[in-house]
Amino acid sequence: MKITASAPGKVILFGEHSVVYGKPAIAVAVNRHVHITIQEGSDTLIHVHSPELEVSGYLELEDETVNCENKLKSGILNYILKSLKKIQDGTGSTFKKGLEITLELEIPIGAGLGSSAAVTVATLAAAFKYFNQEVDRKKLAQLAHEVELEVQGAASPIDTALSTYGGAIYLSPETGEIINLSLDWNIPLVIGHTLRESNTAQLIKTVRNKKERYPSILNPLFESMEQITLEAREALTRKDENRLGELMNINHGLLDALGVNTPVLSKMIYLARESGAKGSKITGAGGGGSIIAYCPGKEEEVLKQLKMEENAFPIQISQNGCQVKKI
Ligand code: MEV
Repeated sequence: MKITASAPGKVILFGEHSVVYGKPAIAVAVNRHVHITIQEGSDTLIHVHSPELEVSGYLELEDETVNCENKLKSGILNYILKSLKKIQDGTGSTFKKGLEITLELEIPIGAGLGSSAAVTVATLAAAFKYFNQEVDRKKLAQLAHEVELEVQGAASPIDTALSTYGGAIYLSPETGEIINLSLDWNIPLVIGHTLRESNTAQLIKTVRNKKERYPSILNPLFESMEQITLEAREALTRKDENRLGELMNINHGLLDALGVNTPVLSKMIYLARESGAKGSKITGAGGGGSIIAYCPGKEEEVLKQLKMEENAFPIQISQNGCQVKKI
């Protein structure tokens, strides 16, 4: 018996960092996925192999350790470890015959594109199926968020919600509620990503530190980010392309002021605008990672220019969330 599960990555359109302080955010699931295959093992160990990451190792659930030689790339295995542990503790079932796990990624890791959430959601869904247990999407998203918190210390529920449900969401600050935005138009986006990985937990700490040192300056910035997200929600509903682009550019300026921009990200952001993007900004935590460029009618030009500088690819909103099946 083999179980396969897939979950999409995401991009944040508006609200990264400010969402950590109770402000709203808008994000979409993208048509790049993580795929997890699990099957019963040949010994009692939980083996994990990822061809793209060139990572092979095994996990020990008892003492919660990841055993892998490629320490640089093995961080993502912690999400698999904690997910399996959660299922084991929650269901009372054990992986006594071990497991063979294959992890395939269409998303670069540490690029602000939600790879860890997608890995977590897909692992949880596959493990529930392995034990023939039903799980609804609400519970899946909630457990995945708990795993992200355990591994990272801090995380908003955005990434795990999108990997679970797909589509586009507005995260409401007052209630913590995740509202599905039913967008009936395609938003042409190009991702530019650097090879420098982004350390979300560290960047959240840096911003928090700055907020503590300059509250009277940083708090109004977060208020402005909130207004941007509220206006962007309206612009998305009204298909107001120019306003959407302009709001992205303003949002980027504020993220720069928080200190999460880098020279490479900045270069890509201005290159995208010069090549015809209506808007471009950091997406995710910054400090490396990725930018998004909103470029109706100019995807090819923007893609070409960004590729000459770093890595780039076009994305589309994925309406599909996590999918799991038994083969
Ligand atoms: C990271 O992709 C976005 C942050 O806002 C953190 C989070 O929302 O969990 C920086």
